[in-house]
Amino acid sequence: MSNKPFYITTAIDYANGAPHLGHAYEKVLTDVIVRFQRLHGREVHFLTGLDEHGQKVQQAAAARDIPPQQACDEVAALFQQLLQDLNISNDDFIRTTQPRHKMVVQRYLQKLFDEGLIYKAEYTGYYSVSQEQFVLEKDKNPDGTWPAIFGTVSCITEANYFFKLSQYQGWLIEFLNANPDWVFPKFRQKQVLEFLKDPINDLCISRPKERLTWGIELPFDSDFVTYVWFDALVNYASAVDTTGQWPADAHVIGKDILVPPHAVYWPCMLHALGLALPRQLIVHGWWTISGDKASKSAGNATNSLQLANTYGTDAFRYYLIREMNVGQDSDFSEEQFKTRYRTDLGNDLGNLLNRLLNMGLRQTQSTVPATPEANSLEEQPERELRKLWASTATRYLELATTYQFHTALEALWGFIREMNRYMEHRAPWKLGKSTAPADRTRLEACLAHIAEGLRLTAVALTPVMPGISAKIQTHIGLTPATRFAEQLEWSSQTAGARLSTQAILFPPIETIP
Ligand code: MSP
Repeated sequence: MSNKPFYITTAIDYANGAPHLGHAYEKVLTDVIVRFQRLHGREVHFLTGLDEHGQKVQQAAAARDIPPQQACDEVAALFQQLLQDLNISNDDFIRTTQPRHKMVVQRYLQKLFDEGLIYKAEYTGYYSVSQEQFVLEKDKNPDGTWPAIFGTVSCITEANYFFKLSQYQGWLIEFLNANPDWVFPKFRQKQVLEFLKDPINDLCISRPKERLTWGIELPFDSDFVTYVWFDALVNYASAVDTTGQWPADAHVIGKDILVPPHAVYWPCMLHALGLALPRQLIVHGWWTISGDKASKSAGNATNSLQLANTYGTDAFRYYLIREMNVGQDSDFSEEQFKTRYRTDLGNDLGNLLNRLLNMGLRQTQSTVPATPEANSLEEQPERELRKLWASTATRYLELATTYQFHTALEALWGFIREMNRYMEHRAPWKLGKSTAPADRTRLEACLAHIAEGLRLTAVALTPVMPGISAKIQTHIGLTPATRFAEQLEWSSQTAGARLSTQAILFPPIETIP
C-alpha cells in the first residue's frame, strides 16, 4: 500500500439553493467511509465543496437580484454550517470560484487546445436550459414531446468549442472491461457500458458569454466561458494540484451524475490530459420523501435536516446509514426515524448502558469488576457472548469494506440485543440479593461482560456515531479509542474502570421540545 493518503471526494453541490437531505446523506456516507479508514490507521484526505458556476447558479442569483458571487457566498456559508452540524471531518472545502481552481481549469483547457483536442465548430441543435445541454431527437418521448426533465427546449445555432470526446470511446470501453470494479456497485458499471453501446458525440465545452457570463473564461477565446461540467469535474484534481495526492481513491456521487459526467466525460478528460484516473466511483441511490424526490423543491427535504438538530447529529447519521443500502434508493420518513430512535437507540443501546451504570452504582461502587477467572466461571452464556462478539466484529468490518453499512449495523445490533437478552438472563438485580458466593461471581462476570461488550460496540460504532461512541466510552471510564487496532478484541481493559452514575444518550422523544 502506498504512503499516499486515502483521497476521497464527494460531489460538489450546486450553489443554487440551500442544502437538502440528498446533500446531507452524501456527506455522512463519505464521512463514515473516511472514519473507517482513519480507525484502520490510514491517513485520509477528504474533500468536499461547492459547484458555483453555470446557468443554474446565475439564474438563482438573478431571481434574487443579487450578484452571483454574493449568492454563492451565502450558500457556501449554509453548506459549511451543514458540515459542522453533521460532524463531517472533511480536510478541505473547495469552491469553484476560487483562484486555485480557475487556474487549473484554464491550464487544462489550454493544454487540450494546444494539442488539438479542442476545436471550434458551428452547431445547430436543441438546447435544454434547465439541463444546460444540447439534447437529441432520440431523447424525445415516444409522442414527440420533450421529457419534463429538460424544461424548455429550443433550437439554437452557435459556434462553440468541442472536446474530442468521441475518439476515446473505444479506449473507455476497454478500460471498463479491464476494471470491472471501477464503479461500485457493479450493476452501475453495466449501465455505463450500456450507455457506451451507442456512439458518443464530441463534448461541447464552451458557452458564449451572451448566453452565460458566470463561468471560467476560455484561456484561448475571451468570448466564451467553459461548460459547467468541464469546470466542476476538475475540482477533484485542482484541489490537490500542488500536493501530489492525485489520483483520488474514490469519488462518492449520486446515481444521477454517473452517466455521462463521472463515468464518461471525466475519465476521457483525464486520459486526454495524460493524468491518472480515480480508482473507484462509489455511487449511491436517491432518497425519496414518501415517494417524491428529495430535491430542493420539496420543502420537507430541507426540514428533514432539522431532525439532526432536534434529536442529535449521531441519531440522524445512524438513521441515514442504517436505512440506506448504498446502491439502492430509500424512502425517508420521520415516523421510521422516530421508530429507530426509540427502539435501536433508546431501548437497545441507551438502556443497556443505563442498566450497567445502575447496577454498578448499587453493587460494585461504580467500578467495573474484573472478569472472574475462566475456571471459576465455566458457564455457557458468557462464553456464547464472547463468541458472538468475535463473529460480529469480523462480519461488521467485512461488510464495511464493501460499503454495506446498513447490514453491518444490523449485525452490530444483533450483538447489542444479545447483550440485553444475556443481562435479562443473568438478572444481576436478583443475583445482588443472594448471599451465595457463586452468585456474586456471576454478578461480577455479568457486569464485566456488559462493560466490555459496550466498549467494543462503542469502538466499532465510532465511524457512524462518533459523538455517542465517545460518550459511551467516557461513561464506562475509558478514553475513547482512536484506532481499531487491538481495540476490537475481547479484552480485560474495562476491569477496574470507574463508571459514571448515569447517562442520557437518547432522551425520550416525549421530553424533547
Ligand atoms: N454540481 C453537481 C455535481 C458536480 S460534481 C463534480 C450536482 N450537484 S447537486 O447539488 O445537484 O447534487 C450533489 C450531489 O447530491 C449529487 O451526488 C447528487 O446525486 C446528490 N443528491 C441530490 N439529491 C439527492 C437525493 N434526493 N438523494 C441522494 N442524493 C442526492 O449534481
